[in-house]
Amino acid sequence: MIPLSVPSISGNEWRYIKECLDTEWVSSAGKYVDLFEEKITDYTESKYAIACANGTSALQVSLRLVGVKRNCEVIVPTITFIAPINVVRYLGAEPLFMDADDYYNIDIEKTIDFIKNETKFENGYTLNKHTLRHINAIIPVNVFGNAVNLEPLLDICRERNIKIVEDATESLGTRYNYGQLTGKHCGTIGELGCLSFNGNKMITTGGGGMILTDDKSLAERAKYLTTQAKDDPIRYIHNDVGYNFRMTNIQAAMGVAQLEQLPGFLEKKRNNYQIYRERIDEIPGLRIADVPDYADNNCWMVAMQVDKEIYSKDREQMMKYLADNKIESRPVWYLNHSQKPYEDCMTYKIEKADILLNQTLNIPNSVNITKEEVNTVIGVLANA
Ligand SMILES: Cc1ncc(COP(=O)(O)O)c(C=O)c1O
Repeated sequence: MIPLSVPSISGNEWRYIKECLDTEWVSSAGKYVDLFEEKITDYTESKYAIACANGTSALQVSLRLVGVKRNCEVIVPTITFIAPINVVRYLGAEPLFMDADDYYNIDIEKTIDFIKNETKFENGYTLNKHTLRHINAIIPVNVFGNAVNLEPLLDICRERNIKIVEDATESLGTRYNYGQLTGKHCGTIGELGCLSFNGNKMITTGGGGMILTDDKSLAERAKYLTTQAKDDPIRYIHNDVGYNFRMTNIQAAMGVAQLEQLPGFLEKKRNNYQIYRERIDEIPGLRIADVPDYADNNCWMVAMQVDKEIYSKDREQMMKYLADNKIESRPVWYLNHSQKPYEDCMTYKIEKADILLNQTLNIPNSVNITKEEVNTVIGVLANA
């Protein structure tokens, strides 16, 4: 099977992890946690980075830090892996679902339209006119590594006291190259941004996450909450309800080794995207989804769009055909506003997300996929 996205463990991972084992620094203290946080701040140019157990816990703490609580609402995209939706509910708040744009990201125009026309600003809060709940945050998710077009959203979110928590779990390495955000990394624009180092991500620690922020007090509070909110570590005084969301030294050691290889991983994935794009776009009925031109994409996942009228196979038939040819593929996540726990939540003009769901498949783009394997995928697609 040619897998969709698997890690490449080909650098200093064994050496750094062996050091943890040899020195017996295996748990959540040790030099690698600090080092990994420092290396991530260097790379992303974020002022602070707080290592977490995974991307989901990073998102959960981030939402809590910006004041999301019971009966609030958080604006979210319907197209995304479900983690950023679930974290809203972990805090007793409600997700409010938005449509997708051409890049599978939250539709910013519709989001602005919604805020302008369907909410009002009262006593320092944005109030949903329909549900009468406070909307105090938005989670833009950089789907498949595509940067969300955040610039037009910044002013209105500031004016309306809607905090931006970026889900950059899929977009490590993606930077904006246009307008006032030029040069900025995904995950460093909102109040907080979250990374994931799950096995299928740009770099992996087996499981892990990171919170990014430029705000010192948010960073301190993030560290406090993720480490059991310990006010006095000797007498065990806790003045708040914290979590054990720490990353271990072993995971961080792996993260440092993986981060050293990120430039090479990015180059590989971007090259593959170009090859797929040039060759698959020539196959009638197939096209590789565009990436935004306001950012240089990390090409974490390659999305292929199938026109079933021309290609003669729909998405389901295509998945089976690829599997029969030992090629892993994956549909876009089932739309979150239709998932059982969320089917009663408010949605706003969701149209495009359905179309994207029905026509899209992700095709293999692991960092260690060979040229021959890329050719095999293209050949199988061409000869259906
Ligand atoms: C968009 C998105 N958000 C959040 C997560 C959660 O990250 P983790 O698996 O590290 O908890 C993932 C992936 O796993 C993701 O793809």
